[in-house]
Amino acid sequence: MVPIDSSTPLPERARSTIWENVLRHFKDAVIVLDKQSTIVFFNQAAEELTRTPRAKVLGHHSRDAFPDSPILTQMVERTQSTKQSETRGEETLRIRQRDIPARVTCVPIWDDVGEVDGHAIVVQDLSYQKTLEESARRNESLARLGTLVAGMAHEIRNPLAGIKGAAQLLAKKLPDDRSLSEYTEVISSETDRLSALVEDLLHLGVPPKPTLSRINIHAVLQRALTLLAPEEKQKKIVLACHFDPSLPDIMADQNQLEQVFLNLIKNAFDAMAEIAPEARRLILQTKMETDYHILRKPEGPSSYLRVEVNDAGPGIEPEALSRIFEPFYTTKARGTGLGLAIAQRIVSDHHGSMRAFAVEPNGTSVWVSLPIQKDIRHDV
Ligand SMILES: Nc1ncnc2c1ncn2[C@@H]1O[C@H](COP(=O)(O)OP(=O)(O)O)[C@@H](O)[C@H]1O
Ligand SMILES: [Mg+2]
Repeated sequence: MVPIDSSTPLPERARSTIWENVLRHFKDAVIVLDKQSTIVFFNQAAEELTRTPRAKVLGHHSRDAFPDSPILTQMVERTQSTKQSETRGEETLRIRQRDIPARVTCVPIWDDVGEVDGHAIVVQDLSYQKTLEESARRNESLARLGTLVAGMAHEIRNPLAGIKGAAQLLAKKLPDDRSLSEYTEVISSETDRLSALVEDLLHLGVPPKPTLSRINIHAVLQRALTLLAPEEKQKKIVLACHFDPSLPDIMADQNQLEQVFLNLIKNAFDAMAEIAPEARRLILQTKMETDYHILRKPEGPSSYLRVEVNDAGPGIEPEALSRIFEPFYTTKARGTGLGLAIAQRIVSDHHGSMRAFAVEPNGTSVWVSLPIQKDIRHDV
């Protein structure tokens, strides 16, 4: 690259091209508005953040381009009257039905005669930072709970096995009386339920370290789907798999990942039990991770794959969304509230991350991003 010597005046066009290039590749979203608040510049990070191509917003008033985020126009109006730049440390922008936590700065642009000629808005997306903070918080509370809970679970496991055995023996000895054997069946099925809970608690408390081997994510998803096929059929769920066959293998614990996707798909099934059978649709999608907040994570690998579990259920209320990964948070009559906590724990043990969104008009999307190790990436 030819060094730019600032002492030599550059022709106007060349100068503006250089600045445009700098701004275009800036990691934060940069939106430039003219005097009338019409968008005249929209960089690549702005396109990624808003999931909107620049062609859709250039030439439009900021108010019309981002109708659900009036804060942008309000900041421009304030900057216009105070002629001072303004920064809002933590705003929530709502863009295309997604809430984006962001730090927003609005600066006036001055012309040669000292008049305000327009505004530049710089938006720093804090989603990834938030995800990290949240998952650190979640893992901390899990670790605290874990030791206590695992100790209890251990003590409960053995007597449960005894109760179940005794109920089975009793069932064999009972006279052929249907009304009595119903009781032993209840004892048996309820102890099964408790045993499953105890196993979950043990996993949560003392999670086994992942045993890594080279695995294909689609094989894991297929196995989870096979295990859930009877329930899928019974609930009349229409399943669509949009798998990217070019995804490389990853180093992961096959059984643990299977557990993650079993939990997520089961949740999707449960959510859709509440809607009309003809609307029950589950879409599983795999792709390379493109979210630059995950990719630009300073440490660790720079390449991830993403699995999306999208259901058409009733969705999750915003207040609930921040709680669903908490252990024991459940809205189901017979839920344990451990499915997502365990999934989260496994995914973070794999150095990945999990996010959940409500999607409009209805439904939930859960995304799992898992790292692709360098040596594997290179030999595909
Ligand atoms: N796909 C989904 N759609 C709607 N709500 C969901 C979905 N997945 C999880 N949830 C919410 O998160 C809660 C916690 O889920 P989870 O940890 O798996 O525990 P459980 O399934 O035992 O309730 C659920 O009770 C439900 O309220
Ligand atoms: Mg669950």
